[in-house]
Amino acid sequence: MQYYKKRKSNREVIRLAKKKANGEKKPKVLILIKIFQSLLPSLPYYPSNRNKMTVTFQQLYNARCDKSGNPHYWKPQPISATPFAFDGDFGIRESLEKILASSDYLEIDVREYTGEVWRKLQGEVSPTCKKLLQRNVHDETVHSDAIKLCCAAYPVSEKVRQEAQNISERWRSACGHPIQKAYLLEVSVFLACSLPLLLRTGGHSLTWVTTQISRDEQVHVALNKYLSVKLCGAEIPEELRQLRRDTVAWLTDGLDIAQWRINQKWFLDRSDEMVSQGASRKLTGFTSASRYAPPFEDENSKLGY
Ligand SMILES: [Fe+2]
Ligand SMILES: [Fe+2]
Repeated sequence: MQYYKKRKSNREVIRLAKKKANGEKKPKVLILIKIFQSLLPSLPYYPSNRNKMTVTFQQLYNARCDKSGNPHYWKPQPISATPFAFDGDFGIRESLEKILASSDYLEIDVREYTGEVWRKLQGEVSPTCKKLLQRNVHDETVHSDAIKLCCAAYPVSEKVRQEAQNISERWRSACGHPIQKAYLLEVSVFLACSLPLLLRTGGHSLTWVTTQISRDEQVHVALNKYLSVKLCGAEIPEELRQLRRDTVAWLTDGLDIAQWRINQKWFLDRSDEMVSQGASRKLTGFTSASRYAPPFEDENSKLGY
């Protein structure tokens, strides 16, 4: 699949810039500036080029196979509860509980949405695309198993579990194509809110699980966005748009980390960005600070021996 037009080669860009600049009879300095400006968009580190790439379904599939070409799935393991990575509360504990509770339902829901699409797709997409979708469905089973192990280590109250179930039922009963629901949940709730919060504040055990899930979800979003646009067009139903904001608002209700200026509105804005642009520079900054200290980097007093 090709997201963007093929870039001109640097030599071609220089030739066109020279031709244009010479035609306008500008001073040499201006010509050089013109050439430099023309080259900027072709540089790999130019900001707007960071997301530009051409990737095929086969490449996405191959990237997640072992050396013999067979699909490789990571295996969730029982985890022990480790301290959260923050001092104080700021509503983070409540948000993490809601994230685990909701993920316990929503990972299964996303598996069912994508599974339904996989079963119904016939000649609309290539066999490789369908194979990749099938693989993604299996990923969701792995995610669900991993979240269940997290919930065993970090108990979730019955009240929060009930609220999470209500959210799940609202998604199930909402209008819209299953692939739109899967795509929106992954890009605007999981990648924009749940996973970054777990990654940044969850501590050692949750960070490890979250890292594995995040890698998979990025591939899922790439495929599901493509399928969503192909099967339903670019327009997302208003009910689903409102529902993803309600979900993020519920997850982050009461969250207020004043020292980082992170609160409910911040996550709603990031969710909007992820839907409209597919990326968020502020979110990247938030998660890139999540490197947790392994035991040998902790103070001796924390090592427990
Ligand atoms: Fe997932
Ligand atoms: Fe997914």
